[in-house]
Amino acid sequence: MKKRIFAALLSVTMVATLFTGCGAAGGKGGKKVGVAMPTQSSERWINDGSNMKSQLEELGYEVDLQYAEDDVQAQVSQIENMIAAGADCLVIASIDSSALVNVEKQAKDAGIPVIAYDRLLMDTDAVSYYATFDNKGVGTAIGKYIVDNSGATPDAPQTIELFMGSPDDNNAHMLYAGLMEQIQPLLDSGALVCESGQLDFESNNTLRWDQQTAMKRCEDILTRYYADKDLDICACAYDGLSYGCMAALEGAGYTEANWPLITGQDAELMATKHIISGKQTMSIAKDTRLLAAKCVTMVQAVLEGAEPEINDTEQYNNGVIVVPSYLCTPQPVDKNNYKEILIDTEYYTEDQLAE
Ligand code: BGC
Repeated sequence: MKKRIFAALLSVTMVATLFTGCGAAGGKGGKKVGVAMPTQSSERWINDGSNMKSQLEELGYEVDLQYAEDDVQAQVSQIENMIAAGADCLVIASIDSSALVNVEKQAKDAGIPVIAYDRLLMDTDAVSYYATFDNKGVGTAIGKYIVDNSGATPDAPQTIELFMGSPDDNNAHMLYAGLMEQIQPLLDSGALVCESGQLDFESNNTLRWDQQTAMKRCEDILTRYYADKDLDICACAYDGLSYGCMAALEGAGYTEANWPLITGQDAELMATKHIISGKQTMSIAKDTRLLAAKCVTMVQAVLEGAEPEINDTEQYNNGVIVVPSYLCTPQPVDKNNYKEILIDTEYYTEDQLAE
C-alpha cells in the first residue's frame, strides 16, 4: 500500500518536473510567432515591430520579425517563408490589405492562426482577431480639431485641402469617414472652402501613404488653385503626408505669416518637434506599446487558449467576416498637451525632443 502511494507521488512529481522543466527550457514550448510589418520608412512601424518582438520574447515565444518596405510581393514571400519555417501564429500589418488572401488561406489550411495588426486584413475568413486603434476615431479627432481650432465661420471662411491615406488600407477609408462627418457641416455652410474641389476620397487619397506623392499633389494644388489666395488648412492623415505638404508650402513661398493649420497622425518624433516649433499644428498619438500588448494577448489566446479582451464586434467587417477587435484610443496632441501625452507617459524623453 505504502509502496503504491510512494509510486503515485513519484509519478506526480515526475510529471510536474517534466512540465516545469519544459517551461523553463523552451518558454512557450518554443512556439514561433511570425510578425510581418509593412515598412521601416515610417517610425511607428519600427516601434510596433520592436514592441511586439520584445513583449513576445519576454513571454518565451520565438519571434521572426520581417519588414517588406512597402513591396506587396515581398510581404507575400515573407509570410510564405514564415509558414514554411513552421510558424505557430502569424501577426500581420499588411501593405495592401486585399493582396494576402492566398497566403492567408495557406496559413489557415496549415492550421496557423492569423491576427491582423493595426490594419484590417480584407476579404478573408482566415483572420481570428484584430488589434488596432479606433480608426474612425482618428478622423473624428482630426476633424474636431479643425472645427474647434481653425476659427472658420461663414463670415470668415477658410480654405482647406485634404491629403488622405492609401486606398488599399481600410484605416484610410475609416479616417476619411470620421473626418468628413465633422467638417461636412462647415463645408455646407461655406465656413470651409475646398478650392480644388477634391473632397472625395478617390481624388484626395495617397497611394502607400507616400510623402513624395503628397508633396507633388500639394504643389500642383497650390499652383492651380491658390495662385491668388492662401491655403489655410492642410488636413493630412499622417505625419509623412504633412512633411510632404510642408515642403510644397515652403517651395510656394509660405512663411510664418500665412502658414496653414496642418494636421497629422502618429505623433512621430519629427512631427512632435514640428508641433513644438509651430510648423505642424497637431497629430494623433498612438501608443504602440499598448497596441502591441493587446495584440500579444490575442497571440496567447490562439496559442494557449486564453480569452483576449475584445471591445468591438461590429465595426470591422472585412467583406467576409466581422473580425473580433480591440480598439485602442487615439489621442489628439498639440503644443498644449504634448508634455502630458508624450513625455509624462515616457513615449519620448525631453532630451529626444530637444535634440
Ligand atoms: C496606420 C497609421 C499610419 C499609416 C501610415 C495606417 O494604417 O493606422 O497610424 O500613419 O498607416 O503608415
